[in-house]
Amino acid sequence: MKSDTLVKGKINPLVRPFLKWAGGKRQLLPEIVKYVPKLTSKHTYYEPFIGGGALLFELQPQKAVINDSNRELINCYQAIRDSLDELMEELSKDKYSNSETSYYHMRDLDRSAKKYADLSAVEKAARIIYLNKTCYNGLFRVNSQGQFNVPFGRYKNPNFLDEAVLRAVNKYLSSNTITLSNLDFQEAVKDAKKGDFIYLDPPYDPVSETASFTGYDVNGFNRHEQARLKKVFDDLTAKGCKVMMSNSCTDFILDLYKDYQETIKKVRATRSINSNALKRGKIDEVLILNYQVQDK
Ligand SMILES: C[S@@+](CC[C@H](N)C(=O)[O-])C[C@H]1O[C@@H](n2cnc3c(N)ncnc32)[C@H](O)[C@@H]1O
Repeated sequence: MKSDTLVKGKINPLVRPFLKWAGGKRQLLPEIVKYVPKLTSKHTYYEPFIGGGALLFELQPQKAVINDSNRELINCYQAIRDSLDELMEELSKDKYSNSETSYYHMRDLDRSAKKYADLSAVEKAARIIYLNKTCYNGLFRVNSQGQFNVPFGRYKNPNFLDEAVLRAVNKYLSSNTITLSNLDFQEAVKDAKKGDFIYLDPPYDPVSETASFTGYDVNGFNRHEQARLKKVFDDLTAKGCKVMMSNSCTDFILDLYKDYQETIKKVRATRSINSNALKRGKIDEVLILNYQVQDK
């Protein structure tokens, strides 16, 4: 039976990120969840920078629009939702084995445009899931030509066919009203209506010149993009949507969002217990809201 709240807490704990993704929000989830507004089933949850989907899977809303500009990533969500059996059969084939030879063979398929174009959507998804679990550090990173360039990870026993998680994610995506898209964030949220909730988790403003990570796809996310996102944040606010954004706590971001300073929550990203008192007190991320919530 459908409940009348959009967000009803964790229903199935196996519904969780099936890829390791840079900027994954699992650590920050307890902080984020505290500030998610109560919404009814009339409203839609939007996540235009879905990445590994940590918050989506934590909340498991019944109506959601999820998006990412990374085509390979969205193709994985589509394959899990629409072609799960075929995908699992593909991942069971011998060519997906934990050896350096298999890894580089699979990784380098994108070095030939012809070979790559011949892969089916399911083969492309299996390749990304396999590479994500067997590559060094489980990252998705491409070079300027869009070619996957992470070296082999040498893990003992990587689980690239996690059947329980894939089945649970398939069930969640296929038994709820979930729209998947591969657009720019601005386009992806354009149909949001009054009362809908939008969680924005863009690539973060770098805390230093060298901290910039631009490997999500061939396009970087610079300060011009952050400013474009701020404009979208304002437009959604004007429509009466509830918006939450996570970002790094830089002077640039604090200044860009100064109109929302009353509802900026400063949070610590590193939740692990740290004996260094200075580090323990370090605030390095912000959650910027356009609505008031009682701190829980
Ligand atoms: C910080 S990650 C999101 C992490 C995610 N919340 C998680 O838990 O894994 C940012 C995502 O934004 C996507 N992205 C970058 N530029 C974009 C754009 N212009 N429109 C939509 N998505 C974009 C990247 O592909 C990446 O997956």
